[in-house]
Amino acid sequence: MKGIILAGGSGTRLSPSTDSMNKHLLPVYDKPMIYYPLSVLMLGGIKEVMIISTPEDIARFETLLGDGSALGIQIVYKEQAEPKGIPEALILGEEFTGKDDVTLILADNIFFGQGFTTLLRNAIKNHQHATVFGYRVKDPERFGVVEFDHHQKAISIEEKPDDPKSDFAVTGLYIYDSRAVKIAKKLKPSERGELEITDLNKEYLKWNQLHVELLGRGFAWMDTGTQESLFDAAEFIKTTQQRQGFKIACLEEIAFYLGYISRDILYEKGKSMEKTDYGQYLIEIANRKHSQQYWDTIDHHPMLGLVENE
Ligand code: TTP
Repeated sequence: MKGIILAGGSGTRLSPSTDSMNKHLLPVYDKPMIYYPLSVLMLGGIKEVMIISTPEDIARFETLLGDGSALGIQIVYKEQAEPKGIPEALILGEEFTGKDDVTLILADNIFFGQGFTTLLRNAIKNHQHATVFGYRVKDPERFGVVEFDHHQKAISIEEKPDDPKSDFAVTGLYIYDSRAVKIAKKLKPSERGELEITDLNKEYLKWNQLHVELLGRGFAWMDTGTQESLFDAAEFIKTTQQRQGFKIACLEEIAFYLGYISRDILYEKGKSMEKTDYGQYLIEIANRKHSQQYWDTIDHHPMLGLVENE
């Protein structure tokens, strides 16, 4: 399974903050936005990741995350010349994904909730054809809306419908088999001039091959595309982290507990930014006596609110 993070776009709704800076490098409280989707792929067990962004911004992501080796993963980069739509990510990633399945995530989406690692890992393990993640929202008409039967097979999927058939929005996390590239290449741009991910999903739906994984009420799904939602997300992260004493989407912590980086590397990374709360947190984990016991029990690990039975 390969992973793609789509981190291009124009970010016009966050202007002027995004006039000289890519949206996904803006902080969501104490870390850059892109940490959140990257943490999702890492928790899903994905070790090969492609980050797609604009020609102007791609180098900045590379400065931030390098080739991924500091996290024990591999990261490669690809430019998207213009924001021509989400399915274009699959076309741009064609060589990278090859015959593998791919998990695609939009870089402005944040997922948080108890049991998320388990849910994601199971979704990846049991995956066939196409899987999308549905989340109940108050305003489904703003999203792609999916209607499904009791086997969680999709029955219909509509982009921003006036009269939604369900309250379930399709989130910015998708798992596809290798056919998705071919399908994406055949899509025609919509009226707004973009390839639409809903159109791609509709193709799988035609073959009764679109599975819906539901994120229940215990989950938070946020996109950070507007000033208001970005501020709300930051506030949520701050409150949750301060209450629990655990950081959300701390990449080095995840890499450590997954066994990708050593305790020494974790400690050194913490030392390199010891003036920050983030650095202190890494040092604290590296010094924690019993952290070893979590290595094999990742699903029960107290990261990202993942403790199942507490
Ligand atoms: P959007 O919210 O549709 O657009 P945007 O981020 O460009 O912002 P705005 O509407 O304010 O101009 O994009 C959703 C996510 O997908 C976002 O993380 C950017 C990314 N994206 C790309 O990287 N390339 C694309 O071609 C599109 C359409 C989106």
